[in-house]
Amino acid sequence: MPKITINGQVYEAAKGKTIIQAADDVGMEIPRYCYHPDIGIEGSCRMCLVEVKGTPKLLPACTTPLADNMEVRTDTQRVHEAVRYAMEFLLLHHPIDCPVCDQSGECWLQDYYMARAGHDSRYPLGQKTRRRKAFNLGPLVKLDQERCILCTRCVRFTRNVTKTNEIQVFSRAHNSEIGIFEDRPLNNPYSGNVVDVCPVGALTSADFRFKARVWFLKGTDS
Ligand code: SF4
Ligand code: FES
Repeated sequence: MPKITINGQVYEAAKGKTIIQAADDVGMEIPRYCYHPDIGIEGSCRMCLVEVKGTPKLLPACTTPLADNMEVRTDTQRVHEAVRYAMEFLLLHHPIDCPVCDQSGECWLQDYYMARAGHDSRYPLGQKTRRRKAFNLGPLVKLDQERCILCTRCVRFTRNVTKTNEIQVFSRAHNSEIGIFEDRPLNNPYSGNVVDVCPVGALTSADFRFKARVWFLKGTDS
C-alpha cells in the first residue's frame, strides 16, 4: 500500500487511487465541483488544487494518482489563494439570484464562497453576461444557463450512468453552455437525478420549483 502524507499526517492508501480519493477516505476535505466519485473524472473546475512536494505547480487532486511517499499539502497560503481565484472566476458571470434560487441553502457555490472565498466582485454587476433562464430539458428538469458553472457532472451522468447522452456542452470557450438537442429531450427514467448531481442551482426539479426553502424540509430515509 502506498504511504501518503497529507498536511503532515501519514496515511496508508489503496493502490490506484487519486489524491482526492485518499483524502476522502481519511475524512480530509478537499473542495471540488466537477469531481464526483461515481460519474467519471473531468478535472476542469480547478477547485481541488493541492501542493505536492517536488512539483513546482499546484496539481488537481482529482486527477493526480497517488505515488508512494507523496507529500501533499492542502492548507498552504498558495492553495487557499488558488481556490479563491477559482471561485472568483466561477462567480464572474454568476447571477445574484440566491433569494429566488431553489438551491439556496444547499448550494456548493454559497458554501465554498463563505468558507474559502469571501471576495468582493471586481466585475460590474451590469456587465455580467446574461444567458437563458429556466427552460425545460425534459418533463422533470429545468436548466438555468446563467447559474451553470460548466462542471459537466450532468453531461457525465447521462454519458456514463444512464448512457443516454441527452445533455451536452455546446459551443466553445466563453460561449460554452450546457444544453440538449432540440429533438432529444432529457426523458430517461433516471433523468431527475441530475438535479441532485448538479452542485449549484442550474438544474432544478420542474415540479418542485418554488415549493419550499430547503431549510424548512425534513430529511427522511428513502
Ligand atoms: S448544469 Fe449543473 S451539473 Fe450541469 S454542468 Fe452546469 S453546474 Fe454542472
Ligand atoms: S474537482 Fe478537481 S478539477 Fe474539479
